[in-house]
This record gives sequence, structure tokens and C-alpha cells, in this order.
Amino acid sequence: MQNTINFIHQNTNNFRPEIGIVLGSGLGNLADEYNEFAIAYSDIPGFVKSTIDGHKGRLVFANIAGKKVVMMQGRNHYYEGHSMADITYPIKVMKELGVKVVILTNAAGAVNKIFNPGDLMVITDHINLMGANPLVGPNDEKFGPRFPDMSEIYNKDLIKIADNSGRFLGLNLRHGVYIASSGPSYETPAEIKMARIMGADAAGMSTVPEAIVANYCGMKVLGISCITNYASGVSTKKLSHQEVIDTAANVNKNFKSLILLILKNL
Ligand code: HPA
Repeated sequence: MQNTINFIHQNTNNFRPEIGIVLGSGLGNLADEYNEFAIAYSDIPGFVKSTIDGHKGRLVFANIAGKKVVMMQGRNHYYEGHSMADITYPIKVMKELGVKVVILTNAAGAVNKIFNPGDLMVITDHINLMGANPLVGPNDEKFGPRFPDMSEIYNKDLIKIADNSGRFLGLNLRHGVYIASSGPSYETPAEIKMARIMGADAAGMSTVPEAIVANYCGMKVLGISCITNYASGVSTKKLSHQEVIDTAANVNKNFKSLILLILKNL
């Protein structure tokens, strides 16, 4: 870990971010507009490389709306074959860099039938159906306790700030529970029906491991899902990664305005 931190400090002129943002599928271009320092994951000791289209794979540092921010432009996923420890390593790095608030974003399918592609959803809670937990293994007390509480992963004050920002912008922000499965296959209609019965509103393949680790490390978490498609069985349409990327691109303007205003209001 110290290796990673030293490398980052050397390559960012000792930039000390207060806020971390993980930019999900198709949502990465905030980091194209704002970047003072950018480092490819492949250059950072301890990071694994991103292998997916729509995920760039850089750690980007910038002052945005008066805040010092580190962004992950693209994330690594469990379905790529990386370990839970590897995909959540950057969250621990954020903690070590001094980050206090982590904003996790993703593309997700609408499980809740009143949601539509193009909606933005503030995550109020999650269900971990990935079949794995990033905290399995020896515990490092330096980061957090062996049995961390998860009763308020998604911080209520941050949800209020997101809501107020959304209202100011005239966005009809949804609220909901995000359910994560490992992927990479999309869910079946029966699985989505099960997810709905379990209380989920949106389905995806990321975010949950990062949210668990960020909360465990004592950072406040805000989660925002970009609803890119109706989940399996909700409509008769087949699911495709292209639809996910295209919808996320269309929502980008609203998404960016929302993130900028949230940063200003933090
Ligand atoms: N299911 C799982 N992951 C996703 C979806 C979905 O419908 N859309 C975008 N990511």
C-alpha cells in the first residue's frame, strides 16, 4: 500500500483529495473535462488493468467546484476475474490519500417497473447477491473492524444533498435499493422477479464491494445509478451492453450537472 501511495504522491505533486468518485459505464467523461493529473491504472503499483469497453482505466485528480477530487475513470469488475480484494484496493487507496466522501456511480437496469431508462437513482441501500464479500480474509484493524456495521452504508446527509441538488436542477431523482450480482451475464427474468420481491429497484454488477469497503474504512458513501435499460423481463427487449453505453451517454449532461452541484454543496 505504501508503495502505491508514494507513487501517486510523486505523480500528482502531492495532491490531497477530499472526495473520491468512481465513474461507471459510459459516465467517465467528467474526468476528460477535469483533469490536472491522470495516471493509468496499468502504471500504478497494486492496481489491476480494466479490460472492458466504456471503462478507461485512469486515476484522475482535479479541483472541481472548489473541491479536491480523485476520480476513477472506469472501474475493475469482479466478472473480469479480478479478486474482490483487487477491485476494492483503490477504495483503500482513496482512504489512505485522505478521502472522506466517496461517490459511487454505475449503470443499472430498472427492476422497479415505474423507472425508465435515463432516470438517475440515488441508492438508499443495497443487496449483495454477488456471492462474495470483499472483507473476507485476514482483517487489517488499521482500516476497520472485523465485523463492521452496515446499517447505514449510504449516508443520509449525502442523500439529502443529492436530493436538493437534483431538485434545484429540475431532475426527478429516484430513490432505490441496488442489487448486485456477479455478472457478466445479465439476469434472467426470474432472477429480476426475485430481485423485485426481495426489495430491489435497480440491478447491476458493481458498486456493492466498493460501498462495503468504503463504509468499513469509515468513509461516507453516496451512490448514484444511471438507469440505462429495463432489467430482464421488464420489457420484451433484449439487453445489450451497447444500449447501456448509449443511454449512459445520453444521460451524461444531467449526470454531470448533478455531480458538479453535489460537489459544490458538499
Ligand atoms: N443488469 C445488470 N447490470 C446492468 C444492467 C442490468 O440490467 N444494466 C446495466 N448494468
